[in-house]
Amino acid sequence: MCGIVGYVGRKNCAEVLLSTLEKLEYRGYDSAGIAVFDKNNIEVRKAKGRIAELRAKMASEGSPEGRVGIGHTRWATHGEPSDINSHPHSGGNVTIVHNGIIENYKEIKNMLISLGREFVSQTDTEVAAQLLDFYYKGNPVEAIIKAIRDIRGSFALGIIFRDFPDTIFAVRKESPLIVGIGEGESFIASDVTAILNYTRDYYMPEPDEIAVLSPYSTKIYGLNYNQLDKPLHHADWDENAAEKQGYAHFMIKEINEQPDAVKTTVVPRVTDGLPDLSECGITYDMLRGFKRINIAACGTAMHAGLVGKYIIEDLAEIPVNVDIASEFRYRKPLVKKDDLVIIISQSGETADSLAALRLSKSLGAKTLAIVNAKGSSIAREADMTIYTLAGPEIAVASTKAYMVQIAVMYLFAFAAAYANGAISEQRCRELTASLLEIPEKISEAIKLNDKAQYAASTLVNADSLLYIGRGLDYALSMEGSLKLKEISYIHSESYAAGELKHGTISLVTEGMPVIAVVTQKELEEKTVSNMKELKARGAYVIVVAASNILIESDVADYVINLGECDEMLSPMTAVVPLQLIAYYTAVLKGNDVDRPRNLAKSVTVE
Ligand code: AGP
Repeated sequence: MCGIVGYVGRKNCAEVLLSTLEKLEYRGYDSAGIAVFDKNNIEVRKAKGRIAELRAKMASEGSPEGRVGIGHTRWATHGEPSDINSHPHSGGNVTIVHNGIIENYKEIKNMLISLGREFVSQTDTEVAAQLLDFYYKGNPVEAIIKAIRDIRGSFALGIIFRDFPDTIFAVRKESPLIVGIGEGESFIASDVTAILNYTRDYYMPEPDEIAVLSPYSTKIYGLNYNQLDKPLHHADWDENAAEKQGYAHFMIKEINEQPDAVKTTVVPRVTDGLPDLSECGITYDMLRGFKRINIAACGTAMHAGLVGKYIIEDLAEIPVNVDIASEFRYRKPLVKKDDLVIIISQSGETADSLAALRLSKSLGAKTLAIVNAKGSSIAREADMTIYTLAGPEIAVASTKAYMVQIAVMYLFAFAAAYANGAISEQRCRELTASLLEIPEKISEAIKLNDKAQYAASTLVNADSLLYIGRGLDYALSMEGSLKLKEISYIHSESYAAGELKHGTISLVTEGMPVIAVVTQKELEEKTVSNMKELKARGAYVIVVAASNILIESDVADYVINLGECDEMLSPMTAVVPLQLIAYYTAVLKGNDVDRPRNLAKSVTVE
């Protein structure tokens, strides 16, 4: 989704804005722009396309030379991607950048038109700029307070006022915003990765708090114009975490980071060989009290929830519902007081997941967030939070975040099962020990790189393919299919292997690729029968199989055998070749792997 940045300091502002915007490219965007004070004039440069196109435009039109300004990457919502609809937008004295959606923009626009104001773009953002200007009578903070009272929806705004050439203003509701503090300079940004090259210290304004950044000071005000004393946060991420470090793409770098990400996430949550979530506020006593669990999430995070369902039900014997968050929030879910609702999210800002969290709280359930981004809205609002410690995930296609989400699902399932008496202490210790060993197994799976690359070469020309599996393997095949389609743009569907005969098998024609996942011994025979049925109809079958599952040559065209691993934990190794297959297929097709078309990393609108 859109990204906003802003800078006040002594450096060349245009260059700082462009370099910080480049760090937000991963969020997904279709146009970019900046506005910089240049000798008291506000100079705007904007262009449809990538930041490289904006840079090219600035090279030909001239780059503004000031020290204060704001910038934006736009992911189109209101109005097509175009130079005119790109941010920044201006209204009279005011120029703004905006991440989010102003739901009542039509109402406000009509009111402003009736007062004689004219609009040049189709965006909701221009409406906010004009509204701010309408309220502006010489005091920017007062104008912001009045304007945000009128606005319904989500926003993080970076604002400059023509009369205040050394100051930027910012305010948020729902959409993320941080305020970075450096030596004699300060920043605003949609997330902290944007400013890591400049500073690691930052404030996190709450909704409706207004930040005022000037070269002399940075102040944050409440809606009553009262100055607030906010805690300063420090980003302790490795400096290189948001860099490619020699890898061709962030996605392959992040696939390779998975063993470490799991280690970092799991090791601190194990005490004396048993899972220990007490630091996150989850005690064994508490775990005994949950009668039902609901998991709500989107996309890959929802797929991690599906793995959670299989293992929590299997081990802890607690019924688990998994919902797509956008469905959960509108289907009047039967959530009760003794229920636990788990929200899984990498970004912690996904609009539907946040809404599902709020709904669950309003229904009286206890809520647990499994979140990667520290201090994000979902993490802050949930009753309890388990942070996945994967570091920043930059590629739009989620890999290491999924891996650590399922690692946490395992820790949770083991703890809940032990708390309920559904498994013995001995079994809990064995499972926990296997989880502690899993980083090595993931490293072995990453060595299947060449096999995955070969499998990918057989898929590049496919129009469509199927992923199949049963049980945990079905949950996994859903993730494999999503990964492939989001970056390779090849249509694929995942199917429970036993369901194919009920309709979908009619799609199979000569040469159609099918990727089967077979890691569960108990289900081996059944899935293999389904593979035979597919092969008999001409399918080209690739199989990802556990080490103890022997696939005969008449059943599959290409076999990727995993190393040894506790069957219960197999999703953590089996997902790796699926990620690699998706990655190499996209690379072979020449796609923009880290920034696939139409997608955004953090989906902050419904
Ligand atoms: C994953 O590859 C996707 N890009 C997407 O499905 C993502 O998992 C989903 O949008 C949820 O995001 P979140 O984890 O930040 O809530």
